[in-house]
Amino acid sequence: MHLGRTTLSQFLIQQLKGSDQQAALADLLVDIAAAVKAISSMTAKGALAGVLGSLESQNVQGETQKKLDLLSDKAFINTFHLGGLVAGMASEENEHPIVFDDLEAPGAFLAVFDPLDGSSNIDVNVSVGSIFSILKAPEGRLPGLADFLRPGKEQIAAGYAVYGPSTMLVLTVGQGTHGFTLDREMGNFILTHPNIQIPAQTSEFAINTSNERFWELPVLRYIEECKAGKTGPRGRDFNMRWIASMVADVHRILMRGGVFMYPRDTKDPSKPGRLRLMYEANPMSLVVEQAGGKASTGHGRILEVQPDQIHQRVPVILGSSEEVDRIAGYHEAG
Ligand code: F6P
Repeated sequence: MHLGRTTLSQFLIQQLKGSDQQAALADLLVDIAAAVKAISSMTAKGALAGVLGSLESQNVQGETQKKLDLLSDKAFINTFHLGGLVAGMASEENEHPIVFDDLEAPGAFLAVFDPLDGSSNIDVNVSVGSIFSILKAPEGRLPGLADFLRPGKEQIAAGYAVYGPSTMLVLTVGQGTHGFTLDREMGNFILTHPNIQIPAQTSEFAINTSNERFWELPVLRYIEECKAGKTGPRGRDFNMRWIASMVADVHRILMRGGVFMYPRDTKDPSKPGRLRLMYEANPMSLVVEQAGGKASTGHGRILEVQPDQIHQRVPVILGSSEEVDRIAGYHEAG
C-alpha cells in the first residue's frame, strides 16, 4: 500500500477480506469514521457553533454533561442506528445499554463507547477524543446486558479518534494498530501511521500528581524513582506530561513511548480507579497491546478483567512494556 494514498476504506477492505462478518466490520468502522468526522467538525468550530459549555444534566457517574458530550453521543447513536450493523450499544452518557429492536434483523455487533473523552478540556480548546470498542452480538436474538459484559480480550475491534491540531483515527482489528489522519478537503481518513510500535522503554510518565497523597506504595515508589533522575536508582532523567484527556495522553505514548497511569488510590475507597473499564480502559488496552505495549491494573492484564457493570471503573497502567512490567512487579512485591 502506498503511504499517504491509502484511504481508511481501502485499508479495511485489505485487512478484513474473508467472511461476510469481516466485510460488515469494515462497514461498521467506516460508519464510525463518519461519526468521528461529524464530531471533528463540531469541535473544530467550537464557540462559533455554540457547542461549548455545560448542560444542567449529569451523567450516570454524577458528572455534569457538556453540550458536546451529548451532541457526540447523538452522532454515534444515529450513525449506529442508521447503519443497521449494531444490535445494541452502551456509552458513558447512557445509564443502560440501548438495543436497536426496530431493525429488520439484529446487527452482528455491539458497540461500547465514550463519545467525548476528556471533556474538561473542551471549553479551553485542548485536545479531546472519542473511544470505541466493538464486540460480537449474540446471533439471532436481541442483546441483553450480559452480552455486553465481556472481558476486553473478546473485543474484535477498538480504537479512538483524537481531535487535536489534526484529527486522527487510530484503530485495531487485532492485526496491529494503525493511524489515519483526516484530510479535511477530501473528507477522507488517510493511512499515515501504519503498524504503530510503542518503544519498550521510556523516560516519560503521565499521572495526575495532585493525587500523590492518595497513591498506593508501588505507584509512589515508581514515581519517586523516576523523579530521582540520573542520580536515583533508574540512572536517567524522566520527563512528565499530563494533558488530562486520556485519548491525547495515550496517543502521545503510541507516538513516542511513555507510561500512562490512573492507578487505584485511596481518595475514594469505594472506587477501584477513575477510568471506566468498558469504554476507556479496554479499547485503549487493545490498541496499546496491538502496538507492542502492555496494559495492567497493577495486578493483572486489563483485557482479562471480567466486567460486572457497564460503567465500572478500573485502575489503569499502560504504555511501554518494560515500564508496565516494572510497575506491576512493584505491585507484586507489595
Ligand atoms: O474520563 C476521564 C478523564 O477525563 C480522562 O480522559 C483523563 O485521563 C482523566 O479523566 C483526567 O483526570 P483528572 O481530572 O484527574 O486529571
